[in-house]
Amino acid sequence: MNPMLDKIRELRDEIEKVSVSAKEEVEELRIKYISKKGLLGQLFNEFKDVPAELKKEVGQAINELKELAVNKINELKDSFEGNDQEMSGIDLTMPGEPMKLGSRHPLSIVKNEMIDIFTRLGFTIAEGPEIEDDWHVFSALNFPPEHPARDMQDTFFIEKNPDVLLRTHTSSVQIRVMEKTQPPIRAIFPGRVFRNEAISARSHCIFHQIEGLYVDENVSFADLKQTLLYFARELFGEKSQIRLRPSYFPFTEPSAEMDVSCSICGGTGCNVCKYTGWLEILGCGMVDPNVLEACNIDSKKYTGFAFGMGIERITMLKYGIKDIRHFFENDVRFLKQFESAN
Ligand code: PHE
Repeated sequence: MNPMLDKIRELRDEIEKVSVSAKEEVEELRIKYISKKGLLGQLFNEFKDVPAELKKEVGQAINELKELAVNKINELKDSFEGNDQEMSGIDLTMPGEPMKLGSRHPLSIVKNEMIDIFTRLGFTIAEGPEIEDDWHVFSALNFPPEHPARDMQDTFFIEKNPDVLLRTHTSSVQIRVMEKTQPPIRAIFPGRVFRNEAISARSHCIFHQIEGLYVDENVSFADLKQTLLYFARELFGEKSQIRLRPSYFPFTEPSAEMDVSCSICGGTGCNVCKYTGWLEILGCGMVDPNVLEACNIDSKKYTGFAFGMGIERITMLKYGIKDIRHFFENDVRFLKQFESAN
């Protein structure tokens, strides 16, 4: 028996039994057995010394051994291929998909800006309930019993009980605060209000207001004017002018409506201000003594001013938004435009 044939048999047994536990070991086997300098390579080198009469037998045996080794190694390689495929396309070292942050709602942006301005003047913030009673929305605010705002047409009432209603303005929070606190009071009241109105580009049955109240000794109309001028200039720019036109509210006397010079055209006239140069933005006045008395505040000792404005209206003017319904539709194409304003 030729020693080559012994060696071949030994190697065959060895290769048949070989097993691996990691992909890298397969490569080690390939180098050990079938690479040029591997064990099979050596056999091929020694083949030239095989006596001629055995060449056929030994040659066949070496070829069979090589086939066996190649098959075995491919088989082992394949057994790891499955795992590889599962992981393919997933690179665990890659950073994750970034989570897209939403943006603040334009109404929140403007509301926060307004709150900031009044906070700098020393106003604190208070809130009240959206579901109210007649006293806080109307009676304590000096609305006469027959006032049209008490009508079903303007106010949403709850369960046919005329004493439970959705507040139509944030002035109700004035009453809640004055009932609980004696002057000095200097606070603003942001919140949602409800009116039974047809929905259109200009009006909605739900909107937001910010109310302001300042009650102390010797508070005058001049204080009101200066506060509102400061507010207008902070919000619309330092060149802004204001003007007050006489008006009427049951809870203020005297009452006024305030216009601010149009921030779009600077007062020269454009289609936003309807070529008047002015934009109406709020109602205001000196707190009616009847209102102070309804809250047990001495109207001989104290005076105060109040003002109230719609946040939607101011946001529309600031950003040139033409339709109030955009605020409630949550269309991301609309909301996305305010990402940089956050
Ligand atoms: N409450 C009034 C409104 O809803 C606004 C206002 C508030 C007017 C305070 C005067 C004083 O229109």
